[in-house]
Amino acid sequence: MADRVYFFDTTLRDGEQSPGATMNFHEKLRLAHQLEILGVDCIEAGFPASSQGDFASVQAIARQAGDNVQIAGLARCVAKDIDACWEAVKEAKHPRIHTFISTSPLHMQYKLRKSPDEVVAMAVAGVTRARSYTGNVEFSCEDFSRSDRDFVVRIVGEVIAAGATTINLPDTVGYSQPEEFADFVSYVILNTPGSEKVVWSVHCHDDLGLAVANSLAALKVGVRQVEVTLNGIGERAGNAALEEVVMALQVRRDIYGLTHGIQSEQLYPSCRLLSMIIGQPIPLNKSIVGANAFAHESGIHQDGMLKHRETYEIMTPQSVGRKETHLVIGKHSGHNAIRQKFESLGYHFDESELNALFVAVKDLADRKKNIHDEDLMALVQQEIYRIPDRIKLRHVSVQCSDGGSVPPVAAVLMDIDGEEKSAAGFGCGPIDALFNVISDLVGRAPALEQYAINAITGGTDALGEVTVRVREKNFSAIGRGNHPDIFVASARAYVDALNNLAKREAEGMRLHQLSSHEAEQPQE
Ligand code: KIV
Ligand code: ZN
Repeated sequence: MADRVYFFDTTLRDGEQSPGATMNFHEKLRLAHQLEILGVDCIEAGFPASSQGDFASVQAIARQAGDNVQIAGLARCVAKDIDACWEAVKEAKHPRIHTFISTSPLHMQYKLRKSPDEVVAMAVAGVTRARSYTGNVEFSCEDFSRSDRDFVVRIVGEVIAAGATTINLPDTVGYSQPEEFADFVSYVILNTPGSEKVVWSVHCHDDLGLAVANSLAALKVGVRQVEVTLNGIGERAGNAALEEVVMALQVRRDIYGLTHGIQSEQLYPSCRLLSMIIGQPIPLNKSIVGANAFAHESGIHQDGMLKHRETYEIMTPQSVGRKETHLVIGKHSGHNAIRQKFESLGYHFDESELNALFVAVKDLADRKKNIHDEDLMALVQQEIYRIPDRIKLRHVSVQCSDGGSVPPVAAVLMDIDGEEKSAAGFGCGPIDALFNVISDLVGRAPALEQYAINAITGGTDALGEVTVRVREKNFSAIGRGNHPDIFVASARAYVDALNNLAKREAEGMRLHQLSSHEAEQPQE
């Protein structure tokens, strides 16, 4: 279909690579499932050769994927990456190998230390090897937007002849301006031999805030695949935000005249799920999914809205899946009501998972009058997707102080490797006291790099969601915790981070993915 845009989602690969967006195995599977519900055409599930963890999650996502979605893995143009990628994706109903190499003079000379001829040879060899496994091969020219036009035409022509079926032209460093980008993309589409045999794709970064604008400009000159992420997460300033591209196509169909398979009512639930998983709140003013995106504050605007919605609204909140949250779950809700509520949010749990959630919901209902959908999703995150921990928090008590004779004090009861331990201590503030006591009990005190707190819903009884990032030597880890009491949420987040740090060390996971030099050197 010439007018159909394919959505290639790279939240689990480019997105997950970004600082603070690391997800565990279960979280990746859950997000992949939601991406399928959202209706993306292809999920780039990870970079299988980069770590055992990535390989395992790509393989599991490939196994769980249904019939309507393709599962891609990323691979450098080197044999070992392509082989690992195929091993990881091959059980998907529709597997894809996505292989890439840099094509700009800067990258070829300084990063790859290869001549243009050598780069062409590696690209052709990579695509040929990928084609020996599957007929679904994507090739990307990394740093396309700073490459020489005629070199791109040459390398892309050769990989098409070698069997590539999708050609992706990334603005890797977010350098292009929309008109210039569209002009360059159009030149390559018009001049490459075999151009009509492939789907043309773009992958834009947001360093100058133009990732969505550049992607849309490329769609106007014949591109039919866009590579995007939920909430625009990704390397540095991020990638083009899926929800923004979708709604631009939908709201301005008069300009683009293009169709797609995205269920726009699933946009908000998907973006919200991602934000819960990675513990990064959606900015209030974020287009489409930010809390203020449909809020009308000024009197003139409110008056206009009351007279006619379209005076200040170009799309409805319902069209992107933002519904009024109904407060159906509370203290008296039964097992069945809770099951049905979770099913309406898209979760299907077995009996033991439901029992754990039932207890958690009751516990929350004892402290908080109104339970919102967001609260329930936070409980799922906490109760179901957490890997069993070495360190468990049992009780916390904190006393604040305004600096008089008694400093802030915290007391903590924990289980560490099955043994009960307790202690109390002081700090310069209650959080400092709390983290000091936990560190003493656990016997490690990593540097606290980040501490963020967010109220999940409105109201003074809102569930507080705390995210912390800790670092020790070469390893860093994120921890999240939520509770109506922000000190308890903080303690949970800190303990979660310590558990994750231990897991990361145990896995021997490298802090940084492959260094950029290592990332494209042939390994054989
Ligand atoms: O930004 C980029 O160039 C990439 C490629 C690997 C597609 O992420
Ligand atoms: Zn990228």
